[in-house]
Amino acid sequence: MEAKIGIGLLGLGTVGSGVASILLNPEGRNPLISNIEIVRVAVRDLKRPRIPSISSNLLTKSPEEVVDDPNVQIVVEVMGGIEPSRTLIMRSIKAGKSVVTANKAVIALHGEEIAAAAKASGVYVLIEAAVGGGIPIIEPLKQSLGGNKINRVSGIINGTTNYILSRMAKEGVPYKEVLEEAQKLGFAEADPAADVDGLDAADKIAILSGLAFGGSISRIDIPVQGIGSLKSRDVEYAAKLGYGVKLLAVAQRFPSTKDANSVPLAVWVQPTLIQNDHPLAGVNGVNNAILIEGDPVGEVMFYGPGAGAGPTASAVVADLLNIAGIHQISNGSNGLDPLLSASSWRACHLVDPTEIVQSNYLRLITEDTPGVIGRIGSLFGNRGVSIQSIVQFDATSQGAEIVVITHAVTKGQMEDSINAIKDLAEVKRIAACMGCL
Ligand code: HSE
Repeated sequence: MEAKIGIGLLGLGTVGSGVASILLNPEGRNPLISNIEIVRVAVRDLKRPRIPSISSNLLTKSPEEVVDDPNVQIVVEVMGGIEPSRTLIMRSIKAGKSVVTANKAVIALHGEEIAAAAKASGVYVLIEAAVGGGIPIIEPLKQSLGGNKINRVSGIINGTTNYILSRMAKEGVPYKEVLEEAQKLGFAEADPAADVDGLDAADKIAILSGLAFGGSISRIDIPVQGIGSLKSRDVEYAAKLGYGVKLLAVAQRFPSTKDANSVPLAVWVQPTLIQNDHPLAGVNGVNNAILIEGDPVGEVMFYGPGAGAGPTASAVVADLLNIAGIHQISNGSNGLDPLLSASSWRACHLVDPTEIVQSNYLRLITEDTPGVIGRIGSLFGNRGVSIQSIVQFDATSQGAEIVVITHAVTKGQMEDSINAIKDLAEVKRIAACMGCL
């Protein structure tokens, strides 16, 4: 019998309980799981009843105690938030302990610092649970797709917003009502702002981009638009035109010869109309999907449950097994597997967001007078923006509702056009603007 590998859990909320539930019920799973033992657990409230039941002797309110416990060999950080998570991860690494974390925000902001520290200490920091919940996407990008030149990563990588948008499209349920249900079901964060404002998706695309293109980018410079101001009528109009609305995160290689030493990337998060026959259009509910376009592999799509206790715990335990397996082979000799401990190998930078090219959806509220559509069309045309379709959906005493879908143009051309259209006397307001695939 191998010696047990001791793990310390930082956090016993939704994900932590999911991890404990797998580790305490090893039957029928990988036999290595029986070798992993929870030896210490940091919780916020010692008195809260726990399911599954964890011996109260293991619980402490001090996360430092967990990290410093000599019987803890791997630290599992499932607390969320930037601090104290970052400090605890760094403390674990400095103590020579590998870390498994589901914390996308910390990795998106401090991934480089953490990876460098892990390399220096000869330990792993594995993050499969940070993106896509139960979908294996981190290790495939690091390993299985390693022979490819990746050109584009696009995906639906926030379960909460996808659940909200799917229910709005299917049942016309108001935004707030669906959000509350998502929180009850355990996949929206207690503070849903990061989900609905697109920040969670931005953290995740920053991480995927770093792995796909080999160098980290500045997370805070990623342009992000959330779903907070989206109206049911936009979802309804999109459906009438043959599209679904999804919060899409994209990272793509950008053609440029300016700086041969750094890869230019266009990275963004935006509610986007997706044609019904597109592979991402059928991804509904809390599911996520990530579409990788690589050379020579072509298009590969990863699909599955993107949030929730079970799926996220499944990814955490996979990372634990990876480390436990290597620990067993190397007997803890710090012989790091270079693929498992992947780090940046070149520079990447973000292009100016105004250079991002895509089709767009625009909803305008205008006066219902002759010539409005013509004038809007001319303003677009003068800025080189070609219109794919323009439809007047509704005309009431309040005015007319006009929906425009453009061909692919730069964000800069689109912004110029919107500024000019806004100034037309007949245009009351721009009610919505989204991307379009
Ligand atoms: N709040 C996240 C989501 C959880 O809705 O996708 C998984 O990261």
